[in-house]
Amino acid sequence: MAGDVITAEPPQLFDRLEEQKSDSLLQLIALCDADPRPDKIDVGVGVYRDAAGATPILRAVKAAEKRLWETQETKAYLGSMGDARFTALIRPIVFGDTLAKDDRIVGLQTPGGCGALRLGADLVARANPRARIHVGQPTWPNHGPLIECSGVEMVSYPYYDAAQRIILFDRMMDALGRAEAGDLLLLHGCCHNPTGADLSLDQWREVAALVSRRGLIPYVDLAYQGLGNGLEADAAGTRLVVEAAEQALIAQSCDKNFGVYRERTGNLFVKAGSKRAAEVVFGNLLTLARTMWSMPPDHGAAIARIVLDTPELRADWNAELKEMCARIRTLRARLAGYDERLAYIDGQNGMFSILPLREEQVLALRREKGIYLANSGRFNVVGLSDDNVDRFAAAVVEKLDG
Ligand SMILES: Cc1ncc(COP(=O)(O)O)c(C=O)c1O
Repeated sequence: MAGDVITAEPPQLFDRLEEQKSDSLLQLIALCDADPRPDKIDVGVGVYRDAAGATPILRAVKAAEKRLWETQETKAYLGSMGDARFTALIRPIVFGDTLAKDDRIVGLQTPGGCGALRLGADLVARANPRARIHVGQPTWPNHGPLIECSGVEMVSYPYYDAAQRIILFDRMMDALGRAEAGDLLLLHGCCHNPTGADLSLDQWREVAALVSRRGLIPYVDLAYQGLGNGLEADAAGTRLVVEAAEQALIAQSCDKNFGVYRERTGNLFVKAGSKRAAEVVFGNLLTLARTMWSMPPDHGAAIARIVLDTPELRADWNAELKEMCARIRTLRARLAGYDERLAYIDGQNGMFSILPLREEQVLALRREKGIYLANSGRFNVVGLSDDNVDRFAAAVVEKLDG
């Protein structure tokens, strides 16, 4: 009744929320920032750094941004598929010219690799609420949350032993040999994060044969193409499994290879059993995207499109990507040459590697030397600069067990 005095406390909706643990990598950044030592070394953050320790904007990206500013006439909505020309230009980079023509593969722009991974998981959950995905251990820590919040069940398979510094290929194949037809299989296309340990081409062939034999569905996370051994070599494994499989998903990111991290630039590609099925998949991807971000952010995709559509910018981007890749390879070789217990680092790819250190050794490096890496021993190889790589290697070697 009007005029009634409300005495009951309103229910406290947000009191029901559980407090969340803060991200351990963000904590590490804060600790490093607060360290006053001028010679501290930050190898925790996962971004490319040049010889001077900066994460610069690529020349080709700057030039494309200038062109975009000069020529863009509208910011009207594009639609849930994002920039279709951008996706069409990325397609042959991922699949190569032949496979890119396969009309059973559809793709659309997403907010980075994360957006692609999440959208793909939602598609899988919508298509099959009982779907399971096999995920190697260890993996990038965000894979679990991204996949599980779509409701897809995760099953682990052994991938890498940090103490022995080897891929557990036999155990991996053994575990995957027990997967059921229609199960998904998460694979890192290249530059495995966090281990840096990629499958050899022969091992990819074996995985491709298994996928085809057992009717598995590869879900490839291709976040670092071009930063391992070049654009073509880094996509070779992905192409093998996508060719072998009747159905596949590929979450692709441009955030690292164009250095546009915060612009959130990527694509999800899906291979379906037929052209007709692929069209239905595409329609479902559009409606799912509409419920999450409606349309992906445009800027990064527009930049990548201009770079790839402009021969001189494309050539410059290729050259810059090769420089980044060469710098990573040089740092890996330098670390590996330091001590035979670090030799494995040279055979690995991309920005990350795991040092065979126990947590107390990692903490001692932090305390005594101002070296900041994740407690697991994962570090960003390219977080090192020409000035501190020797000091880093010496400090690590001092802590390594026998
Ligand atoms: C293995 C892996 N997949 C996906 C991503 C997501 O990339 P993006 O920043 O494009 O969302 C990352 C980013 O660190 C990654 O390491």
